[in-house]
Amino acid sequence: MVELNSLHFSVLSDGMLNRVVSRRLAPLGRVARSLHTSRPVRSAGIVQHRNTDYNNAETPFEWNEDSKSKIPFIMSKYPEAYKQSAVMPLLQLAQEQNDNWLPLSAMNKVAEMLDIPAMRVYEVATFYSQYNREPVGKFHIQLCGTTPCMVCGSEKVSEAIQKLLNIKQGETTKDGMFTLTEVECLGACANAPMIQINNKEFYENLTPETAVKLVDDLRNGRAVQVGPQNGQKNCEGIQGKTSLKTNPKPVCRDLDALKAELSKPKQQ
Ligand code: FES
Repeated sequence: MVELNSLHFSVLSDGMLNRVVSRRLAPLGRVARSLHTSRPVRSAGIVQHRNTDYNNAETPFEWNEDSKSKIPFIMSKYPEAYKQSAVMPLLQLAQEQNDNWLPLSAMNKVAEMLDIPAMRVYEVATFYSQYNREPVGKFHIQLCGTTPCMVCGSEKVSEAIQKLLNIKQGETTKDGMFTLTEVECLGACANAPMIQINNKEFYENLTPETAVKLVDDLRNGRAVQVGPQNGQKNCEGIQGKTSLKTNPKPVCRDLDALKAELSKPKQQ
């Protein structure tokens, strides 16, 4: 009997997982109920790889000169025996040089460089939404749909963007300008709802109207403001600063005074 392990689960789609579990439980006489999973939004691409003419093990991928110049610095951060820890920055580097997405061949190249099984790289690339395993638009909009953003209106923001761009989540506009995906919390919950574009900048405190304006400005090449879109400063809230209004005093000890004290000859 083949054992299921976490690796299998990482590459199975929800439907496949249901079927496998149902088959396993049936002989045991248990009621194999369908596993409940979250709604199948098309966020961050598909779960498993399917060979296509543009994305397969033969798709050309070589490090370019710019990447080659950055690799030694990345590798220098990790001891030789733990060089596999460089998998994330190398995947990011590969993605950045390849129009913001990772073909199978790029993941294989990273595995080869780190001398680890390719599956170890696939596991990382399929876990984090920062890695795109299919081509994305010039502006990849990652819209946070986790609870704080959801209760603050992320669904309305998503609907407004979908309507403006005439795409659904997980799709790219025909002109290749925008891809919209829903992702989990990006760590800006205090300024929910928010989106991230191209894994770089955050645009926060959105409403459907400000989100539409933002996307329209990007589409027309107009300058956009990074950060809160409601005029607030950083995470201060709309009422401004309510605490920590003065600069705190230094909390560290006066080390020079301590040294002087310790250097004094001891009294007999
Ligand atoms: S819930 Fe959206 S950034 Fe945290």
